[in-house]
Order: sequence, then structure tokens, then C-alpha cells
Amino acid sequence: MLADDLKTLLATQYALSIKAQNFHWNVEGPDFAQYHDFFANFYEEVYSAVDKIAEYIRTLQEYSPGSFERFQELSIIQGQTKIPRARLMFEELLEDNNIIINLLNQCFASATSENKQGIANFIAERLDAQEKHGWMLRSFLKDQRA
Ligand SMILES: [Fe+2]
Repeated sequence: MLADDLKTLLATQYALSIKAQNFHWNVEGPDFAQYHDFFANFYEEVYSAVDKIAEYIRTLQEYSPGSFERFQELSIIQGQTKIPRARLMFEELLEDNNIIINLLNQCFASATSENKQGIANFIAERLDAQEKHGWMLRSFLKDQRA
């Protein structure tokens, strides 16, 4: 059901945004400035989708979850309570980003099957944005060429 998929998406996007903000605050290393800025752009972009998802849930005449407790129950990515090394931060965000892309594809299928083309359009834009994040994360992780 689309509304349920969007509730999962809302919680998971929120969780991903918080994780990237955690990394923005706590990353360390010789490339600190680049990492700090990259994580800032990442969490802000991911967070920018949160309000729209919640409002789409309302247009479907369901109530939107809005607490850490509910987000914790609904999110399909793991939180991070430790401070990983920088490379592990990128690996973890890439894994999470792939989980979000799969979830967005599921949301897109639900939206089209329920004839909600406007929501499907929004989801397609999110897929574009998350795939761009995936490209950047993979690029940070690529070993230098000799
Ligand atoms: Fe900041």
C-alpha cells in the first residue's frame, strides 16, 4: 500500500539524514574539510525530501508518523551510535543509499498501481537524487589509479 510505503520511506530518509549529519559532525582525517562539506550537502539534500513525503501521506488521508520512537520502528536502515573511520562512513552510507533506492522503486510501483502519478513523479525525482548520491559515495571509495 502506497501510504504504508511512504511511512517507511519517511522514517528511513529521516534516519539517513541524521546518520549523515552525525558523520558531518564527527568525521576526522586529513581530508576533513572535504568530508565535512560532503556530508553536510548529503544530509541537507536527503532531509529536504522529508516534509514532502509526510505531506503526501496526508494527501492519502493517513496520518504521518513524527517521533523518534515511530521512526525507529519504521526505518529499514540501522542507526550508528559509534564513530566509524571515514572510509567506513562512506561504505555505510553507500549501503544505506542502495536500500533507499530499492525502497523508492517499491514506492514508485505502489504509486503507479494506485494511480498516483504526481507522487510517482516525486519518487522518480528522489531516485534521481539518490542515484547521484550513490555516484559520489562510490567515487570517494574508489582507490586512486596508479
Ligand atoms: Fe554544520
